[in-house]
Amino acid sequence: MGAPAAPVPGTPDRHDPAQAAIAAGLDPARMPRHVGVIMDGNGRWAERQGRERIDGHRRGVEAVRTVVTESVRLAIPRVTLYAFSSENWSRPRREVDFLMLLLADFLRSEEPTLHANRVRLEAIGRLDRLPAEVQYELDRVRAATAHYDRNILSLALSYGGRDELVDACRRIASQVAAGELAAAAIDAATIQANLYTPEAADLDVVIRTAGELRLSNFLPWQAVYAEYVVTEVLWPDFGVTAYHDCLRDFQGRERRFGGL
Ligand code: IPE
Ligand code: IPE
Ligand code: MG
Repeated sequence: MGAPAAPVPGTPDRHDPAQAAIAAGLDPARMPRHVGVIMDGNGRWAERQGRERIDGHRRGVEAVRTVVTESVRLAIPRVTLYAFSSENWSRPRREVDFLMLLLADFLRSEEPTLHANRVRLEAIGRLDRLPAEVQYELDRVRAATAHYDRNILSLALSYGGRDELVDACRRIASQVAAGELAAAAIDAATIQANLYTPEAADLDVVIRTAGELRLSNFLPWQAVYAEYVVTEVLWPDFGVTAYHDCLRDFQGRERRFGGL
């Protein structure tokens, strides 16, 4: 017998996610399968510090790293982060340009964190609208992490829930026009199968920072039975403790799904 087997380097099995959950006051049997986060409040954070809005966006990257690594520690299989909405294109050119630069930098600087945690990167949205450099980095990091299957970080970029449903309708309509599908055969499963990531589970919880009580076009199809957790914490201040608080709030809800 003797000493327990040494952990295998480079695998995340060294720690026990159930123990991590219990230590955070969470029930490991009721962890969400899919967490969505509306990362809001970067501008307000900066304004309160007397700084420029872009400083808030820069600081927000740290909170992204925290949520990604903590989700792996807690064995939450999929996290979707709302990073840039279809409506955010209407912001001043300077801010949009900065966000795109930050995104490309993020993809380069966080790739080692994704590998260290064996996280697969995915992206949803009208990605063809993103600058070429961002598309290049996205494709590169997605390909480099495509073999990881336990934890997924999905970035919603140039994403709008209505766009996603419009894009699904177009694909379905072309299948009908090609005679591959009867209009009467279209059901919820058909729509699900034509979303950007059809295999993704419905959202269990949507966390929104910075206090607003709205969805802002984030994953409407997937969020129909999500629990909403809103915190006043601004995104750059969102750390492990705030994340645990949100997850405990979620676990305290009674989910009924229309039944009794
Ligand atoms: C969220 O912070 C980041 C993005 C939407 C890109 P905001 O930039 O919306 O910050 P506030 O809401 O103005 O404080
Ligand atoms: C939602 O935040 C979009 C993201 C977090 C990327 P916004 O700041 O754009 O939302 P509104 O304008 O307050 O609804
Ligand atoms: Mg905002």
